[in-house]
Parts: sequence; C-alpha cells; structure tokens
Amino acid sequence: MLKVLIVEDDSSLRNTMTTVLELEGYQPDAVASTREALTKLSAQAYPIVVSDIYLDERTGIDILREARAQDPACAVILMSGRGSMETVMAATEGGAFDYLAKPFEMAQMIGAIRRAEQSLEEANDDEAASIDDLPDTEMIGSSAKMVEIYKTISRVAPTDATVLIEGETGTGKELIARMLHRNSKRAHHPFVPVDCGSIAPTLLESELFGTLKGAYTGADRDRMGVFEAANNGTVFLDEIGDIELGFQLKLLRFLQEREVRPLGSPRSKKVDVRVIAATNRYVQKMVEEGRFREDLWYRLNVVRLTVPPLCERPSDIALLVHYFLRRYNARYAFDTIITESGLKAMENYSWPGNVRQLQHMMERLTILAPGSRIDEAAVRTAIQETDSRDGGETLAGTEAEQVRRVLAATNGNKSRAAKILGIERKTLYRKLERMGV
Ligand SMILES: Nc1ncnc2c1ncn2[C@@H]1O[C@H](COP(=O)(O)OP(=O)(O)OP(=O)(O)O)[C@@H](O)[C@H]1O
Ligand SMILES: [Mg+2]
Repeated sequence: MLKVLIVEDDSSLRNTMTTVLELEGYQPDAVASTREALTKLSAQAYPIVVSDIYLDERTGIDILREARAQDPACAVILMSGRGSMETVMAATEGGAFDYLAKPFEMAQMIGAIRRAEQSLEEANDDEAASIDDLPDTEMIGSSAKMVEIYKTISRVAPTDATVLIEGETGTGKELIARMLHRNSKRAHHPFVPVDCGSIAPTLLESELFGTLKGAYTGADRDRMGVFEAANNGTVFLDEIGDIELGFQLKLLRFLQEREVRPLGSPRSKKVDVRVIAATNRYVQKMVEEGRFREDLWYRLNVVRLTVPPLCERPSDIALLVHYFLRRYNARYAFDTIITESGLKAMENYSWPGNVRQLQHMMERLTILAPGSRIDEAAVRTAIQETDSRDGGETLAGTEAEQVRRVLAATNGNKSRAAKILGIERKTLYRKLERMGV
C-alpha cells in the first residue's frame, strides 16, 4: 500500500480525504499543520504528498521544498482555494506534480494521485531498465569471429563512415554502436539511440527532424529533432528494417544532404552527425522484395558489421558466463559459483536470445541457485523456465521462495524483481498478494 501524506488544516476536508484514500487502497497519514508535516517528513519517506498551500506561518511551498529535498522522486500535489498565477508558478518551479484548485471533487484528487503513482512506477521502471542495460564498456568474447568484429570496429570507429550493424536479437548491436561512438572523435558529443521500430511511423519524422510550434494541432512548442540534438555526435537508428517505404526516401535525402528541415519550417539547417544503423532483419532480402529502397540500402551499407549469433561462437559462452557471474555477485553481494557441469550445460544450450538471454539467466541464477552453486540441474531448470515462460506467466514449484529471494536481493525493488523473474510487474503484485506480502 502506498503511503500518502495529507496536509490540510480544514478538518472536514482532511477527514473526507483520509476516508476516500483509505477506500481507494492507499495508506494516508493526515496532519493539520506545517510543523507536524515537516516532523512526519523527517521521520519517514512519503512517495506522495497532498498539501494545502495556505496553512499557518509556513506554506505548502515549504512542504513541497522539504519533501523534494528528502526524496527528489516524491510527487507533491498542492491544493488551494486562492490560486493565483504566482502560487501556481511557485508550485511548478518547486517541482510540484500537480495543482488542485479548491473546491475539487474527490474523483479529481484520486485522478491526480493515480497519475502520480503511475509516474513513480514509470520512473522506477526506467531506473530498473537503466541498471539492466548499463551502457557496458566491456565487450566480452575472444572467438575468431569476435576478434574480426573488434578489428573492424577499431578501423572504422575514428572515421565518419556510416555503419550498418546486422545481427539477431541480443547479439550486442547497440553495444557495438556505443563502442564505435566512444572510440571516435565524437565521443564527447551525444550518442542518441532511436528505436525506429517502436516509434509510430507518423511520429518518426518529427522525432528525427523536429517540429515547429503550430506545425500540426497539438504541436504547442518547437521540438528539436534527434538529428539536430545530436549535432557533432552519433545517431543510432535501431531496427532500421522497420522504417516505412515512404519515410525511407526522406532518410535517404538526409544522408545525402545532411540537412534537417523541421516539420512546419520553411528553412533547413546543416547538421553534423554520424549515423549508425542496426537491424535484426535480413535487409538484403527486403530490398529484393521491394520493401526497402535499394539506394538507401547502399547509403547505409558503407561499412557492414555482421554480428554472429552466440551459437556460432560457443567458445565465448564460458567467458560471458564468468564475466556476468562476477558482475552480479558484485552487484548483489553474493558468492555464487558455477560448477564444471553447470558450465557445460550452458555451453550446450542454443541461446536463441543470444547474449541478452545469457545475461538475464546469469543474473537470475546468481541470485537463485540453490546453495549458491550453479550446477547442471540449476541450469536445466533455468532453461526450462525460460522456454516455458515464453507463453505463460508461471513460475516453477518453489516460486514463493524465488520471489522472496529476488526481492531481498533487489532491496524490494519490484520492477527490477519482476524483470529478473521474467514476469510482468502486475503479475508479481498478484503473486505477492497471494503470498500475503
Ligand atoms: N559481447 C558482449 N559482451 C558483454 N555484454 C554483451 C555482449 N554482447 C551483448 N552484451 C550485452 O547483452 C545485452 C544485449 O545487447 P544489445 O542491446 O547490444 O543487443 P542488440 O543486438 O541491440 O539486441 P536487439 O536486437 O534485441 O536490440 C546488453 O546488456 C549488452 O550489454
Ligand atoms: Mg538493440
């Protein structure tokens, strides 16, 4: 249950708010003065604070400041019946999450709190995701195929050549793109990844080229496009095979002219960016089938790097296993070891999800291996679970125990725990409820 601090001097409003929040499943703590509120805040953290502005000798703005100083992620919702431009400005500048003008309906307040809750969860997820995909500096692997890749990287990184990286999912395409950037003269300028597959085709143009205010309904301000924002740096166009034919022409023009013209703008500007593209599809075939422009293909394909799937470089598996074991042992303060037979089992698996799958499995095993020993049985179970989880959301027999261990290792971070367990956060919440946690 999420704790909410209510600060309101009007006792009837305070009581109504408390009751409503309890009914909605929150854990409210209500106080009537700034002094009490500041005492509460110094004693414990509240993810959400709802405070009146005009209270006593101090105001809700002081509460806002204190709450955000204690915990910058805290969402503070301020309310006032005397809202003026100045108070709203002060609230916004102080980082208030929302502002409710009194009188308001309880549903409005709940709406604001739900939005705050959601943004906290998203922030949490971003954090979880960013720990997960630490822009690792190290590329592990000494198989002949990887050594060829390193050679190409070192040769082309310092140039401004456009690079196309092909490879199955999880083989390390983004990691390679980052290495190319880091080893170029652009290293101190931005590296901006754009996932072309997950951005709606209609939005991709404005994302890359920018938009002027008023270019379309809803464009309420100028937005700089990625190509301009990454000036002097590198733009990483991921999932290039997903770009629509229509937009491919615009991208081609950009690669030829190196100019951007934001939507709604009469003028174009020169930009200096290096483009690195990646795809897990076989674009050559798309060209043959007329689904990808041949001229764009040639423009992108100045240097092509083809990353082999993990099953084609089995000698790298052991190196990766030890590398991730060391990393996760360090992160979670464990001393998990892997046995000879455990390593064999890892080496014999086909790794359809490549390095990413191996990385996730090592994280899971480091935390969950019985007796902190990753042996053949532990690896087999983990592989079975990965395979069976693809469709369903079931955890194996000792699931309650697994959930507990992962939560303990992640200090109760549910987003992170769900990720390690390979289930959705909502599913984890349901499981916790069933476990009575
Ligand atoms: N050779 C490697 N050494 C160490 N870590 C690696 C290696 N290759 C990949 N990884 C790690 O595996 C994960 C997946 O890599 P990355 O995101 O670069 O893959 P990708 O090819 O872009 O996958 P997708 O096609 O699904 O986007 C990352 O956490 C990355 O750090
Ligand atoms: Mg990728």
